[in-house]
Amino acid sequence: MELFREGAINFYAEDKQTRKSKVFFNPSRNFDRDLNVLLFNALGAHNLKGIDLFGGSGIRSLRLSAETDAFDFFKINDLKTSKTIKKNVLKNKGKIKTKITVTSLNALDIYSMQEGYDYVDIDPFGSPVKYLLQAMPKVKRGGILALTATDTAALYGKAKKACMLKYGSRSLKTGYFNEIGLRILIKRAEEIANFYERSVKPVFFDVRHHYIRVYLSVSKAKLDRDIGYIYQCSKCPNRVIKFSEICSFCGSKNIEVGPLWLDSLFDKNLVSKMFEIAQDADAKKYLETFKQEKDSVSYYTTTELASYLNIKEKKIDSFGSRTVLNDKGFRCDYEFKKLVEEYKKL
Ligand SMILES: C[S@@+](CC[C@H](N)C(=O)[O-])C[C@H]1O[C@@H](n2cnc3c(N)ncnc32)[C@H](O)[C@@H]1O
Repeated sequence: MELFREGAINFYAEDKQTRKSKVFFNPSRNFDRDLNVLLFNALGAHNLKGIDLFGGSGIRSLRLSAETDAFDFFKINDLKTSKTIKKNVLKNKGKIKTKITVTSLNALDIYSMQEGYDYVDIDPFGSPVKYLLQAMPKVKRGGILALTATDTAALYGKAKKACMLKYGSRSLKTGYFNEIGLRILIKRAEEIANFYERSVKPVFFDVRHHYIRVYLSVSKAKLDRDIGYIYQCSKCPNRVIKFSEICSFCGSKNIEVGPLWLDSLFDKNLVSKMFEIAQDADAKKYLETFKQEKDSVSYYTTTELASYLNIKEKKIDSFGSRTVLNDKGFRCDYEFKKLVEEYKKL
């Protein structure tokens, strides 16, 4: 075991990103935890009750307890690492502003707990779906549910069968694979919320090659959310939301992708607030790009257009509506035919 420091916290863990590690810690997710802290500082909430179902070393909840004023109470749970979490809580005693209890339950047992929580964090190995089924009714209405999925092969279109089984959706390998994964995950969370007469709304996300993390606000059930399909051409980059079997650009067959979440992916006010209070240059840069995000579904990349049109790749700086999901990605809310004409002119 080694001693690490992240944010305000000194803690013991093992820097081995495998299921076999005794106390899992992935330093490359430092940025994701920075954003987690920023989000709760931007929310400006107080007296919250949180539960971290897959605590690992406890680093996430320890940071939230020391670097924000949002929580009154935190339960840090992990099936295997509670001893180290307790040690890490003691080590940071002077900095923690929250009452913390440490448990070693199977996360699936949350279903039989009496109490509800304002914040539930689900950060398991692989898919969060089975835990989501148990945890959803324990998120108070108005609360936040944070979900991490690392089964990106399923969500990004490589393991289609697994995606259909776990998420009930058809994924597809495309230039915007990570957006498909994110939207399928949110759709599944909404379906599960509906079982319990609740609905979810994404307020923030952080998507990387090896994980998807999304923050959902949980409310009473609503029926006005938009869930549907993307019709992706099997031969060219064109895709549309309106049902169509044939591509309007090249006449090839379309592939139906989904069902997936078609509504907005984040709360603009919250992200503006996060940007305002962010100190760190990387977070500031990430949140700045967020501000350019449009609500339209899917993005194109300069790489895929250049390769399809067999012309030199244009500089991404020529495009206004950049997306945080891809350094070379931009959103376009007009027809593909017009985009091709514009792209050739650049
Ligand atoms: C990906 S790690 C969590 C990382 C942590 N959230 C962080 O930010 O560093 C997954 C953790 O889940 C724990 N775990 C695995 N199965 C579990 C279960 N059924 N219930 C509770 N904890 C479990 C493992 O011991 C491991 O520490």
